[in-house]
Order: sequence, then C-alpha cells, then structure tokens
Amino acid sequence: MSRKKILAGNWKMNLTIEEARNWIRRYQSVQKKGYLMDVILFPSFTALYPLSKEAFKAGITLGAQNIFEEENGAYTGEVSGKMLVDAGAKWVLVGHSERRTIFGETDDRINLKVRQALFSELRVILCVGETMEQRKAAEHQEVVSQQVINGLKEVHQSDLPHVVIAYEPVWAIGTGQTATPEDAQEMHAWIRSCLKDEKGETVADKMRIIYGGSVNSENATQLFACPDIDGGLVGGASLKPDSFLSILRSI
Ligand code: PGA
Repeated sequence: MSRKKILAGNWKMNLTIEEARNWIRRYQSVQKKGYLMDVILFPSFTALYPLSKEAFKAGITLGAQNIFEEENGAYTGEVSGKMLVDAGAKWVLVGHSERRTIFGETDDRINLKVRQALFSELRVILCVGETMEQRKAAEHQEVVSQQVINGLKEVHQSDLPHVVIAYEPVWAIGTGQTATPEDAQEMHAWIRSCLKDEKGETVADKMRIIYGGSVNSENATQLFACPDIDGGLVGGASLKPDSFLSILRSI
C-alpha cells in the first residue's frame, strides 16, 4: 500500500511572526512546489494567520499545536477548532507528550480534542509514545496501543483517513537519542496491527504513521525507508529552514 509521505515541523513555543516569515521565504527560495509529500508546519497560534498566504504559495500546509475540546463558550484563553480554521489551519497536533506531561492531558481529554478537531474539519496528528521506564519494563507496546485506542474512541470510520498517528517515544523528544530504525519500525508495525484489530484492515493500511523524536538529516533516510514509517514530525531540527530542507531531501 503506498501512502503519501509527510514531513511536519513542530515549532513549539518558538519563532515570532517575522522569524517565521523569514523561514518560509528561505524555504521557498530553495524548495520548489509540487513535492510528492505533505509538508506541514505547526507555528504558534499567533503566527498562523500572518503566515497563511505565504505558506500556501510555498506549498506548505499549516497546523495548530493545540485545540480546545468545546466548540465555543466561556473558556478564557482557549482556542476553538473554528478559530483555527479561520486562521488558516488545516491540521492540529493532539496528544503531544509535552501536553500530556506539562499540562496533564489525559487520554479522555485527548479523545475529545481529536473528535472536536474532526468535527471542525481539521486533520489530526495524534501523538503517542512511551517513557523510557515503560520501555525498560517492556510495557511500551501496551502503553502505546492504549493511547491509540483511547485517542480514537468513537471516531467515525470515515474520519479515520483524516488522522495521522505520530509515534514519538518520550525519551527521544529533544534528547538527541533517536529510536533505531528497527525499534521504530517494530512499533509502527505494532500500531498498524492495533489499528487493524480495532478499525479494520482497509483503514489501517491507509492511515499514515509518522515518527518523531530527535529526527535530523543524518538519521532521517534510514528511518523513513522503513515500510511502516510514513514520514516524520520534527521539533528542534525544524526551527532552521536549511536543516528541515535537508531532512526533506533525505525522504
Ligand atoms: P524533537 O521534537 O525533534 O526536537 O525531538 C519532536 C517533537 O516534539 O515533536
């Protein structure tokens, strides 16, 4: 089954509007449109709208790093799916390990966010991944399958192709310690088999599963050559357009 590859950059709480504009200009000067891959950037909320036109011209799709689970109302400081779409987002990141650990997001909350995002016609990157303790205790497969199953609870079958799973081992995020291609492939195949059991073979074959955690231009080629790894979610190495571009080329 051939699945379109994805290269996504998660800028986290970095880059002002001006810095982000310069990033896109640099990218556009090097990379011509029409790559056979989905290139997605996740800037801060404040940069979404100002970047929307330039990103479109550069062949880049924008996503938000978070969404609130309700449609609207008295939720001071939160941002709804409709607002994200209004600002030019097509995607949203849900369940990133920083949201799970720093902001205490549970699987139940993550599931509400996934469903709210799909209801708002946003595509979702649902992030899952185990800690080093869980891996050492051989609990990693169980932990990740629960995160996937709980995150996708009551998601309509027809919405599943709009969801991408990002396997991001917590111990690999921002540490320089990447999963080996063998370990990553094993986990991606496991996630796909869980999706098959839960949601059926056809949809499991179609869904894209990307890897994140200290991806750089040195390790990207081997990782993205694995049969069940459909691209990557890049944090630190996405902050500089040249390093992001060199990862893109290696895919
Ligand atoms: P990293 O972050 O590439 O800096 O490890 C990945 C992520 O948090 O999505």
